[in-house]
Formats: sequence, structure tokens, C-alpha cells
Amino acid sequence: MKNIILLSLLLVGTYAIAGDAELGKAKAEQVCKTCHGMDGMGIDNTYPKLAGQYADYMAQALKDYRSGARKNAIMAGFSATLTDEDIANVAAYYSTLQENSLTDLTIK
Ligand code: HEC
Repeated sequence: MKNIILLSLLLVGTYAIAGDAELGKAKAEQVCKTCHGMDGMGIDNTYPKLAGQYADYMAQALKDYRSGARKNAIMAGFSATLTDEDIANVAAYYSTLQENSLTDLTIK
């Protein structure tokens, strides 16, 4: 019984991080691109690059900003507008942008 519960938790967890990159792109267009860019490179050095970052890392960061576990005044506000589904989707979108070089800040 215990194993079944653990297995279901594992499956739910896996489902929760499998976002839809297309829906995430639409959300990024509305909310994130003014700072992180549609290419995930950040509009300048103030903003972290998201392109090619692991989706589960970004999803965790967004949930932590939303809960207050990770503190940042800017991201607290933006993450508060996101549902769990939005988070999975935007994380999926930015994680797909691997064609960008993470060291080239000139690409916009
Ligand atoms: C007004 C500017 C702004 C907007 C809009 C914005 N962010 Fe951010 N974001 C920041 C800043 C500044 C940081 C760095 C915060 C810190 O130091 O923890 C950050 C950090 C992050 C991080 C953590 C990166 C890391 O390497 O740990 C993620 C993930 C992220 N943002 C995703 C998003 C997503 C997805 C959206 C849209 C839903 C978004 N942000 C909208 C400014 C913004």
C-alpha cells in the first residue's frame, strides 16, 4: 500500500513538470519577454538567461518565488500571477531554446 502511494506521488510529480511549450510561449510573450526576452537571453545582464535551462529547475525557482521560499521583489510579483500549469508551460518553453549560446549576450 505504501508503495502504491509513493508510486502515485511520483507519477503526479512527473505529470506536473511536463509542460506545454507552445502554451508557455504565449505566456512568455505576455509576461516574461520584457525582461527575459522571447529568446530567453535576458534583455541585459540584470536578467538571468533562461534559454536552455532545465525545465524542472525553472519550475522550482518559480514556485519558490511564488511561495516566498526564494525572495526577489520582482519575481515574487510575476510568479504570483502564474498557476502550476503556467509554470510548467513557461519552464518547458524556455528549456527548449537550446540553440542560443549561453555565453553570447549579443543575441536578442
Ligand atoms: C520585470 C522583469 C521580469 C519579468 C517580467 C520576469 N522576470 Fe524572471 N527574473 C527577473 C529577475 C530580476 C530575476 C533574478 C531574481 C533573483 O535574483 O533571484 C529573475 C529570475 C527568474 C528565474 C530564476 C533564474 C535562475 O537562474 O535562477 C526564472 C526561472 C524566471 N525569472 C522566470 C520568469 C518567467 C517564466 C517570467 C514570466 C512568467 C518572468 N521570469 C518574468 C526579472 C523578471
